[in-house]
Amino acid sequence: GRVAVLLGGSSSEREVSLDSGAGVLAALQRRGVEAFAIDGVPALVDAIRDGGVDRVFNILHGTRGGGEDGVLQGLLDALGVPYTGTGVLGAALSMDKIRSKQVWQALGLPTPDYRVLHPGDDVAAAAASLGLPVIVKPAREGSSVGVSRVHAPDDLEQAVALAARYDGQLLMERMIEGDEFTVAILDGVALPSIRIVPAGTWYDYHAKYVADDTQYLCPGSDGEEEQRLRALALDAFNALDVTGWGRVDVMRDRQGGFWLLEVNTAPGMTSHSLVPKAAAAVGIGYDELCWRVLEGSLD
Ligand code: DAL
Ligand code: MG
Repeated sequence: GRVAVLLGGSSSEREVSLDSGAGVLAALQRRGVEAFAIDGVPALVDAIRDGGVDRVFNILHGTRGGGEDGVLQGLLDALGVPYTGTGVLGAALSMDKIRSKQVWQALGLPTPDYRVLHPGDDVAAAAASLGLPVIVKPAREGSSVGVSRVHAPDDLEQAVALAARYDGQLLMERMIEGDEFTVAILDGVALPSIRIVPAGTWYDYHAKYVADDTQYLCPGSDGEEEQRLRALALDAFNALDVTGWGRVDVMRDRQGGFWLLEVNTAPGMTSHSLVPKAAAAVGIGYDELCWRVLEGSLD
């Protein structure tokens, strides 16, 4: 049938999604799939009404005009159109970093200590209670948009103001000093981890998509530690009721402890992106990966 590759949209991750979507579209077409690109949810709804869509490959990153927060999933459920990736609950919980952490904490899964910031809160007191450095984030965003690392109390106000431009809900998280990992999940299996070694101080938007000097080690760990990391990532993924595919971001502290940061349910598929690197490590090429994700929408 006809597959709409849903990309672009109006979230802050629009450009990333256009890039991911172009890659997915070309891969599906190489596989002989009758696929076409659709930019944003309103255009998708029109195409569905016109009877031209049998299935959706959702590679629309982000929220507020993106397709990664459960809204799109609910819409497609209601319209009876199958789609790739997780359903409503997994998407909604994963997009919200505060609720993700609350679920993990309730299950005893490790995630860095944090404070929810409400308007008028004493942010200096919140930072002092966690201990600097801290990370200030919009609760619902992607690609590090609106995220700041804060080392000095004087920089808190600016970090909060930046995050508040993207979301009405903010969190402040204890910064784990150590190494950054990510674990891709495909069809209920955790792929080899990737350790991200940015050339600069951290893996921000620039390091993710622009710079070519970030190093990726895959597998990022080995032996018992690698098994422990993959098992944790899968537990975190399942805890949020995510299905299909996704990517779990994790920090390792200097004592070797792992800490869950977030789950991405429509992860990047650009030439810089991580899920394709993890798949390649087990012999799954980019085109095969796209095909596998599409097949996952068939159940
Ligand atoms: N939010 C971006 C697209 C990612 O997780 O890859
Ligand atoms: Mg994310």
